[in-house]
Amino acid sequence: DWTMAAFRDQAIAQIRAQVGENGRVICGLSGGVDSSVAAVLIHEAIGERLTCIFVDHGLLRQGEADQVEEIFRNHYNIPLVARDASDLFLGKLAGVSDPEQKRKIIGATFIDVFEEEAEKVGGADFLAQGTLYPDVIESVSFTGGPSVTIKSHHNVGGLPERMKMKLVEPLRELFKDEVRVLGRELGLPASMVGRHPFPGPGLAIRIPGEVTRESCDILRKADAVYLDEIRKAGLYDEIWQAFAVLLPVRTVGVMGDARSYDRVCGLRAVTSTDGMTADSYPFEHAFLSRVATRIINEVRGINRVVYDVTSKPPGTIEWE
Ligand code: XMP
Repeated sequence: DWTMAAFRDQAIAQIRAQVGENGRVICGLSGGVDSSVAAVLIHEAIGERLTCIFVDHGLLRQGEADQVEEIFRNHYNIPLVARDASDLFLGKLAGVSDPEQKRKIIGATFIDVFEEEAEKVGGADFLAQGTLYPDVIESVSFTGGPSVTIKSHHNVGGLPERMKMKLVEPLRELFKDEVRVLGRELGLPASMVGRHPFPGPGLAIRIPGEVTRESCDILRKADAVYLDEIRKAGLYDEIWQAFAVLLPVRTVGVMGDARSYDRVCGLRAVTSTDGMTADSYPFEHAFLSRVATRIINEVRGINRVVYDVTSKPPGTIEWE
């Protein structure tokens, strides 16, 4: 008889067996459900031998860094190192527009930063990640047919060979809905457990083409307006994931009596149970108009908004 309480005990026993009596673990926190649940689980297993590292790569949503500090430092009292590495990440991404290239750069830079931070806290033998089962399947080449990698999720393969730390991935067999049950079992706040998924490479894969600090700033504002309206309409929990995308295209518009020539913002919202297949969320037209008006009025640099009605497949949830 399989229950989440039993899974929790078994996972804790497994972590203890893997890490041993003296092993030290660092856990990369992203602010999302998966890494938070992994961190709390590992903390239960090995206590103070876990250090959480929150890396701000400059590709986070608005207010994200503050929320992570609030939950881990103040609510859980789990040791947390916060590192602003936005210059490093954005510097390495300068001039790069290929999606897989961006993912690889971000993944490798994460490892560099984790290793540096691990060194500073006296060394770590293990790196923990909140990898889920769908991440494993979608990153691995499918067997049986031609080899296809859809997207290399950086928290699965793709870790540099030179990495000295071994991986601890206690959620590798779970789907998202199971991770949420486990999170509740571990007493994580409902607002954290119910958060929409957010990809490790962050806003970088929501800005097709080259990523700059300026484009991240524009996208962050549009995304915050969109999510604010979704929450106000009481739709947040009905939707698997909603976010804004900033397109590398400029179009002509008219603002007051002047011509504008600015970027296009794409809105995405999907329903799903595991992220492997998804349907576009059927918003009412009035809702979309309201969001579009607010974004164009409040976010400088955007003068047109479109809604993505593609399902997965054939689309993917993220645009890159
Ligand atoms: P796609 O775009 O492949 O996304 O349909 C499926 C789910 O996975 C998330 N995603 C990622 N998560 N690292 C992550 O941690 C990644 O590189 C990555 N790429 C996509 C995406 O947000 C969606 O929930």
